Amino acid sequence: MQSLVARKALLQGAPRCANVARGFASSAARSQAVPLEKPVLLKEFKIYRWNPDEPAKKPTLQSYQIDLNQCGPMVLDALIKIKNEIDPTLTFRRSCREGICGSCAMNVNGQNTLACLCRIDRDSKDSKIYPLPHMYIVKDLVPDLTQFYKQYKSIEPYLKNDNPPADREFLQSPEDRRKLDGMYECILCACCSTSCPSYWWNQDEYLGPATLMAAYRWMADSRDSYGAQRKERLQNELSVYRCHTIFNCARTCPKGLNPAMAIAKLKLELAAD
Ligand code: SF4
Ligand code: FES
Repeated sequence: MQSLVARKALLQGAPRCANVARGFASSAARSQAVPLEKPVLLKEFKIYRWNPDEPAKKPTLQSYQIDLNQCGPMVLDALIKIKNEIDPTLTFRRSCREGICGSCAMNVNGQNTLACLCRIDRDSKDSKIYPLPHMYIVKDLVPDLTQFYKQYKSIEPYLKNDNPPADREFLQSPEDRRKLDGMYECILCACCSTSCPSYWWNQDEYLGPATLMAAYRWMADSRDSYGAQRKERLQNELSVYRCHTIFNCARTCPKGLNPAMAIAKLKLELAAD
C-alpha cells in the first residue's frame, strides 16, 4: 500500500508528465504542419513599353497580372517578378533595392518615386508605371540621364580648397557640419528634377532642384573655399532663377529632402552679392 506522501508525490508529478507529453505532441505536430496556402490576390500592372529597336512602333502600356501573395511588398519586387517569370524583355534599372543607389527611380501611379521604397497598393485598382517624366527614354522604364549628370558635373560637386591642412584631417565644428544635413543625403535619383515643370521646359539651361541643392551643399560647406566662384557661375537668368518655388521637388523626394528650401537659401546667397 502506498504511503500518503508517496501518493501525493505521484499526483503532483502526473500533470507535469502530461504537460511534457503534450509539449512533445505539439512540437511534433508543428514540425509536420503544412503552411496554409494564401488565396490568390491578383493585381494588374500597366507598364510603359518602348523599344528603340522598333522606332516606328509607338510607346504602349502593357498589362501584366501577378499574384500579390506570391510577390514581395514593393513595386520593385513586382517588376522583378514580371521580368523573371513573365516577360524577360521588360527593362528597368535597379541595384541596391533599399533606397540607396537611386537607380530605380520611376513614376508610379503619377508620383515620381523609388520603386524599391514604394509599397504596392493591395487594392483592386490597376497600377500604372511610367519612366521619369519629360526625359528621353533609352528603353521602357530607363530614362536617359546624360543631361542630368552633365549638369551635376558642371557645379563641381566636390570639396575645393587650395590650402588643406597638411598634417591632419579637415576639421569642421558640429554646427558647421549640421548645415549640411538635409542635403548630403541626396542620392541623385532625379525624382525631384523630373517632377519640376521649370525643368521640363528649360532643361538645357535651368539646372533643376537636385543639381541646385548640390551646388548649395558645397557653398554651405565650411571647408570649401570656392564659394565666390561657385556663386559667380550661377549668376545668370536661367541656371537658378527658373525656379518658381512650385515645391513639386520637396513633395516628391523619396528621401524626404527639401531641394526647394536649399534653392531658396541659394537665391539669398546670390542676392547678397
Ligand atoms: S533631392 Fe531627393 S528627389 Fe532629388 S535627387 Fe536627391 S534624393 Fe532624389
Ligand atoms: S534599387 Fe537602389 S534605390 Fe531602388
